[in-house]
Amino acid sequence: MLRVGERVAGEVAAAAAAAARVPVPRVLGQVEGAVLLELVPGRPAGELADPEHAAAAGRACGALHERLAGVAAPEELRKLPGRERNLLHLDLHPYNVLVDDAGEVTAVIDWTNAAAGNPQLDAARSWSILMLDPAAVARRADPGWVALTEAWLDAGRLREVAPAARAWACRFMLDDLAGRHDPAALQHVRGALRNLE
Ligand SMILES: Nc1ncnc2c1ncn2[C@@H]1O[C@H](COP(=O)(O)OP(=O)(O)O)[C@@H](O)[C@H]1O
Ligand SMILES: [Mg+2]
Repeated sequence: MLRVGERVAGEVAAAAAAAARVPVPRVLGQVEGAVLLELVPGRPAGELADPEHAAAAGRACGALHERLAGVAAPEELRKLPGRERNLLHLDLHPYNVLVDDAGEVTAVIDWTNAAAGNPQLDAARSWSILMLDPAAVARRADPGWVALTEAWLDAGRLREVAPAARAWACRFMLDDLAGRHDPAALQHVRGALRNLE
């Protein structure tokens, strides 16, 4: 798996720091602006159709927040406001977590958004994606998806995350998705933000 872009150095540093607590793909080779990553077995948690299997994966995904709390962010990562300097993934969602047939995590991938900050922000970011991302909303009638996301929200206690952190995540999402969706498709995100403020 070849990854290219301006931010690969930060991605590699973030994954290396995370490797102490969660599985990540091994770096097979690296040059300026590109990195070759090991192809990890397993598939994205979001692809699981069987609710029981999906729920097991969801519990493992929810546990990632706790596993990553306490990992110090590498110096080169951008810092979010606040004093804490924990490693944050900021894109922990069902297509960035690969799982095996038992629902165990085989790798956390795609560390492009990684930053330094308060772990609550990572939990809030996952909460916002699972609850509000238009792609997630579109799958609310899909039993595998529902089992996965409910188990993740419960195991990670994502609904209990401080309102201020969840409001931050809503603003992050509005900014992140502005170029990909028209304003009407994000109205529910603005609604959620108003309720949290
Ligand atoms: N190291 C890897 N091993 C196995 N599959 C991978 C690996 N990296 C990416 N993938 C697959 O490619 C998809 C997209 O990769 P990702 O790194 O998340 O890139 P993007 O920036 O497009 O989201 C993942 O959902 C996964 O299915
Ligand atoms: Mg991805």
